[in-house]
This record gives sequence, C-alpha cells and structure tokens, in this order.
Amino acid sequence: MVYSALKSLLFKLDAEDAHDLTIKLMESFPLFASLFNTHIDPKTCLKVGNLTWKSPVGLAAGLDKNARAYEFLSQVGFGAIEVGTVTPRPQIGNERPRLFRYIEEESIRNCMGFNNLGSDFMYQQVLKLKSKGLSIPLGVNIGKNKTTPDEEAPKDYGLLYQKFKDIADYIVINVSSPNTPGLRSHQTKDALEKLFKALDRKEEEVDLYLKIAPDIEMDEIDAILETAAKFRLTGIIATNTTIMPERGVGGISGKLLYKKAHNIRKACLEKIKNYPSLEFIGVGGFASYNDVVEYWRAGGRALQIYSAFIFQGPKLLSSINESIQSDLARLELKSIDELINYYQRKAL
Ligand SMILES: Cc1cc2nc3c(=O)[nH]c(=O)nc-3n(C[C@H](O)[C@H](O)[C@H](O)COP(=O)(O)O)c2cc1C
Repeated sequence: MVYSALKSLLFKLDAEDAHDLTIKLMESFPLFASLFNTHIDPKTCLKVGNLTWKSPVGLAAGLDKNARAYEFLSQVGFGAIEVGTVTPRPQIGNERPRLFRYIEEESIRNCMGFNNLGSDFMYQQVLKLKSKGLSIPLGVNIGKNKTTPDEEAPKDYGLLYQKFKDIADYIVINVSSPNTPGLRSHQTKDALEKLFKALDRKEEEVDLYLKIAPDIEMDEIDAILETAAKFRLTGIIATNTTIMPERGVGGISGKLLYKKAHNIRKACLEKIKNYPSLEFIGVGGFASYNDVVEYWRAGGRALQIYSAFIFQGPKLLSSINESIQSDLARLELKSIDELINYYQRKAL
C-alpha cells in the first residue's frame, strides 16, 4: 500500500529525479523502513562465501551508489546490501538524461557512467555505518575512473581494494558495466590476471567477487572461472546489465535481461562445479519467487535484485520471504539450505 502510493508519485517524475529523491528520503528517515514491516525468519539465513546473509536475496549494486540508504534498505527484507560502484575519485558520470524506465516491461535502461562521490566519501560512510553496527552484510562494489587510461586500470582497483578490504564485508570488482568505455575489455584472462595481481591480496582477507557481463561468449566463462580460482577469489556475480542497441545506449536490466542473464548463470553454474572453492551469486531480471526457484533448480543459491525492487517495492521481498516460509512449512524442512537442496535435486 505505502509503496504503491509512493510509486504513483515517484513515477510521475523523471526517473533520475525520482531516484535521487528516494535516496534522500531513505537517508533522512531510516526509521520509516518499519512501515514496510518485513519479517525475516532466522531459518532463511544463508551462508554466502564466508558471510551469513539474512535471506538469499541481496540488493544489487548501483541503487545506493554512495552508501547513503543502507540503514533504510537493510530493514526492508534484503539479506545483504551492495553499495557502489565507487571509483577512486568522485565523478559526475554521463550527461543526463541517462536513466529510462520501460514500465510495461518492468525494465530499466541506464547509462549513468559511475556517477559517485568518490572513495573518500564512501570510506567515511562505511566507517560511520560500521560504528553503528551492521545488521546485514555490506558489500562495496569498486570500479575505475573514466579518466584512468585502461592500462592503468589495475592501479585503480588495487587502490580501492586496499582502501576497503578492512572495512567492507565483501568487495566486488566491477569490470562489466557497459557505460565506462573499455571497461568490459578487462574481462579477458590476461587483463584479469593483471588486475588481480595489482590488488596485492593476501590469504584470509575480505571476501572478493568478480562481477561479469551477460554479453560474453560461453567459452570466455572458462577462462574467467579459472583465473578467479587461481587468484583465490571468493566467487563470481553474474550478471551486470546487457546492451540492446535497438533500445539506445546504456545497459538494460529487469525482465528484458532475464533470459540472457539466466543462460549465462546456467552455464556458469555448470562450469563452476569444476572449481569447488568458488561461490556464485546470481543477478539479472529476477522479479518473482518463480524466478528464484528456477535459479535454484539451475544450481544457484544466493541472488541479488535491483530493477524489480523499483517496480514492485519491498512487497517483492516480503512475497519471496513468505513463499520461502510456506514452502519450508509445506515440505517440512528446517532451513533455507534444505529448501534449495530440495529444488536442486528436483531438477535432476
Ligand atoms: C540504474 C542502474 C545503475 C546501476 N549501477 C551499477 C553499478 O554502479 N555497478 C554495478 O555493478 N551494477 C550496476 N547496475 C547493475 C545492477 O547491479 C544489476 O547487475 C543489473 O541491474 C541486473 O539486475 P536487475 O535486473 O535485478 O536490475 C545498475 C543497474 C541500474 C538499473
């Protein structure tokens, strides 16, 4: 109810104005999150990498680019929150308009270009949040500045990794946004090796993920998984937005992305069996419990959502969490792991 009323006002505004206003409201009134009253049963806790998510559904990067709305968002039913993408220095991103809704198709096109307040601001935000105590895991998604030449990109990632490794719960290397020219070229084996070396990552450090694009060839997946395992990453996040030139520049997310992202996830989940140390987090187009079940059947466990949350609001999370509860009761299962295993076995 509350979200439908809010949405009818917000959707009258330009998409980016609506987004900025919502972030400001969430930042200023975190306690209003209780209006959405989402109860999460402890049975839905899921181990993801070395962390425990409060539910299997996390918030994907890009909604809370500067970690201003964590306090609000951590109360509405997500299991974990990923903030960013943050770049070393602040940057304004691409020219507006750069955010477009496809309401009928529950999809979004964006060409934001990593607009963010920079790593110093993010560092202070995360410190402030940590001093108050985090109720669910907080991931920091990192990216290079647009003005950093491609050959110097590893330096940007190294700087950001070192800056956030002791304060973030997990870190995500984003080399998959279509809105920073040249960024996706860092998904090749050679480029990834250079990038991972520049992190100077030691054993037993913070959980680290690589976020990949849906617009890659199936045979690129092998090289990505092999390199991620070689450098002891925690896992892979798939996928970022997709390009659909017929719709215009930028990246498409939401229902229009679902099929492409699902196919890449399925292929990753099949191949990742050869790398038991690697965790996997699915993202891209999830908009219902049915989608979540389809992902579990394909071998997935934890997932993230962005676009469907914009169209459906916190009700989407309560409806997924309620469906999990009723499945657990119906099947007389004790934990989310048992439920996921049940769907994975059923798929065989
Ligand atoms: C407006 C917008 C901004 C985004 N910004 C980022 C970003 O800064 N970093 C990132 O890794 N992904 C970003 N994403 C991609 C999402 O994290 C997610 O991978 C993608 O939207 C697919 O999930 P969805 O279909 O649930 O939205 C952005 C998505 C949208 C819609």
